[in-house]
Amino acid sequence: MCGIIGYTGTKNNAKEVLLSGLKKLEYRGYDSAGIAVYENEKINLYKSTGKIKNLEESLSKNTSTLNLGIGHTRWATHGVPNETNAHPHKCGNVTLVHNGIIENYLELKQDLILKGTEFKTQTDTEVACAYINEIYKTEKNKIKCIAQSCKNFRGSYAFAIIFDDEPDTIYAVRKDSPLVIGVGASDENFISSDISAILNYTNRYILLEHEEFAKISKDSIEIFNSNLEKIEKEILTATWSSSEYQKSGFDHFMLKEINEQPKVLKQVFERYFSNNTYDQNIDISNYDNIHIVACGSAMHAGLVGKFLFEKYALIPVTVEVASEYRYKNQLITNNTLVIIISQSGETADTLAALRIAKQKGAHTLGIVNAVGSTISRESDITIYTHAGPEIAVATTKGYASQVAVLSTLALNTAIKKGLIDKTFEEHIYNDFKNIQNTISDVIKNYEEEYKKVSEYIYKHDHLFYIGRGIDNAVCLEGSLKLKEISYMHSEAYAAGELKHGTISLIEQGTPLIAVATDEILFEKTVSNVKETKARGSFVVFITTRDLEDKYIKSVEDTSGFFDIKLVLPSATDFTQALVTMVALQLIAYKTAILRDCDIDQPRNLAKSVTVE
Ligand code: F6R
Repeated sequence: MCGIIGYTGTKNNAKEVLLSGLKKLEYRGYDSAGIAVYENEKINLYKSTGKIKNLEESLSKNTSTLNLGIGHTRWATHGVPNETNAHPHKCGNVTLVHNGIIENYLELKQDLILKGTEFKTQTDTEVACAYINEIYKTEKNKIKCIAQSCKNFRGSYAFAIIFDDEPDTIYAVRKDSPLVIGVGASDENFISSDISAILNYTNRYILLEHEEFAKISKDSIEIFNSNLEKIEKEILTATWSSSEYQKSGFDHFMLKEINEQPKVLKQVFERYFSNNTYDQNIDISNYDNIHIVACGSAMHAGLVGKFLFEKYALIPVTVEVASEYRYKNQLITNNTLVIIISQSGETADTLAALRIAKQKGAHTLGIVNAVGSTISRESDITIYTHAGPEIAVATTKGYASQVAVLSTLALNTAIKKGLIDKTFEEHIYNDFKNIQNTISDVIKNYEEEYKKVSEYIYKHDHLFYIGRGIDNAVCLEGSLKLKEISYMHSEAYAAGELKHGTISLIEQGTPLIAVATDEILFEKTVSNVKETKARGSFVVFITTRDLEDKYIKSVEDTSGFFDIKLVLPSATDFTQALVTMVALQLIAYKTAILRDCDIDQPRNLAKSVTVE
C-alpha cells in the first residue's frame, strides 16, 4: 500500500509530474497525500487529507517551476489519516516518503527520544526519517548512511529520500515494497512505486531489486548492491501505454474493465489453449498435489481452479489464503506444486508465502498480471494473465483472467494425462472459441434483470449468496464484489451449509442470490433455495438456458421458488464460472451506483496490499 513518486529534472515542472503520478498511484491508497519540493532554496512540504484532488486544489495557486520533488499517497497503517501523519516527513536534514512498515519503530523511537528527538506524528515513517537523520550526523556518505540505517530497520520499505544539502538528487532503497526508476530521455529522471505513474513521461525503467540503493539526479542514475558496490542494471521498456489508464468514455474504470473481459478472455484462451504457448514450457501433470495460495479475489479464482484440477486432472488441490499459509506447517513434499496467484504481483502475504514455499523446496508457479512484478520474477515459472492494467480497486478482469489461466492449465493437464476424450475436448474448444460472444451477451443483454435485482437489494442491510461446487466459489467472489463496492453486508455459503446456523438470519424479504449452473447439483440447490423461500427470502435465481429448458420450463410447479430469474448462457465447467461472475459483477456495480458509493476507490481499501 501507499504509492511513492519522485522527480528530478529541468524538462518538466516537478509539481505537475508528482501530482499526475500520484493520481495514477491512488489505487495504492487514498487516505492522504503530500509532496516535498525544493522551492526558494529550501524543502517545502504540502499535505492534504483524502484524495489527490484535495492536494491539487491546495496547490492550485502555486506557480513556481520546480526541479525536484518527492510525493506520496497514503493507506494509513500507523496513525490516523490526518495532515500531520501524511507523508512526506522531514527531520533535520532528511525528508522522505515511505511505502511499507517499520515493525521495530517503537524501539527505535525510544532510543531517539533519549537522544533528544522530538516527534510530531504517530507514524513509523517519521521514526525512520529521524533515524536516518541521526546517522547522517556522523556518516556523511549518503548511501552508506541509508544502508547503515536500513540495517536497523525491521519490516518492509521503499524509501525516496532527499537531503537539504543536496537538493537536486533523490536517494532510494527498497526491501519487499516495489520501486522502479524511470529513465528520462534527457535532463530528467523519476522514481515510482509503479511504472504506470510515469508513463506520460517515459516508458523506460530500471527495476530496483530487494536491498539495492539508487542515487538519481537529472542526468545520472547510479545503482548500488547490498554490499554498496556500484552495479550496471538493464533498462527495460514498459509495453502498457498511458492510454490504457483512461476511462475511455465509461463512467468508471470498473465498468470499463468489466467490458474488457470478452477480449481479455478470448486472448487468454487463444494464447494458452489453442496455441498452448505458455511463456515457458509447462507440464504439471506429474505433480502429486497442488497448493494454491493467494489473497482475496485471487484466492477465489484458486477455488475455481481447485474444482477443475480435481474433477478433470485428478490432482488433489488445497487452496489457502496467503496470510494463513505463510505461518502454518505447509506440508510440502518434493512433488508439490505451489501455485501463487496475484494480479499485482506485489501482495505482501502472497509474496511471503511464495518465498516460504521455495525455501521448503516446492516448485512454484506464479499466475500474475503485472509484468516484471516481484512475484513474477521470483516464481520458478510465471504465467502472465495479460489482462492489461487494472485500475479499479475491485478486481474484475484481473480475477476473470486468473480463472481463465487456471482453466487452461487444468484442461491441458487433463488432456496430457489422457483423461479427456476427443469429443469433449472439441466441445470445450468451441466453448473457448465462443467466449468473447458469450461474455458480451452477459454484459449487454441482461440490463433489465440487473436493474430489477439491484433495485430490490440496494435498500437492504444484508443478503446471502448460495451455490454448490463451482457456483459456491463464484458466490464467494460475487459476495466480496458487492461488499467492497456497495458497503452492504453479504455472505456466501455452500448452499447445503446454510441450514447449519445461518438460515436463522433469513426473514421476510431477506435477499438471497442463488446460483445453480451445474446439472448434477441443480436439484439439490433448488431444494436449499426452497428452504429459505419457506422462511420468507426474496430469491434471485441464476441458472443457465439448458437447465431452464430441462428443469424449469418443463416442470409445472415451479412458481413460488424464485422472485427474479436470470437465465445465462450455458457453458462447460471450464468457462461457466466466468459467465456467472460477469453477471454478479454487474449486479454489484449497479447496486453500488444506487447506493451512491465510490465505485473505483471504495473506502478503506487499496489495490496493492503490500503490508501483511
Ligand atoms: C478484491 C480484490 C482483492 C485482491 C487481493 C489480492 O476485488 O481485488 O481481494 O484480489 O488483494 O490482490 P493481488 O491479486 O494483487 O495479489
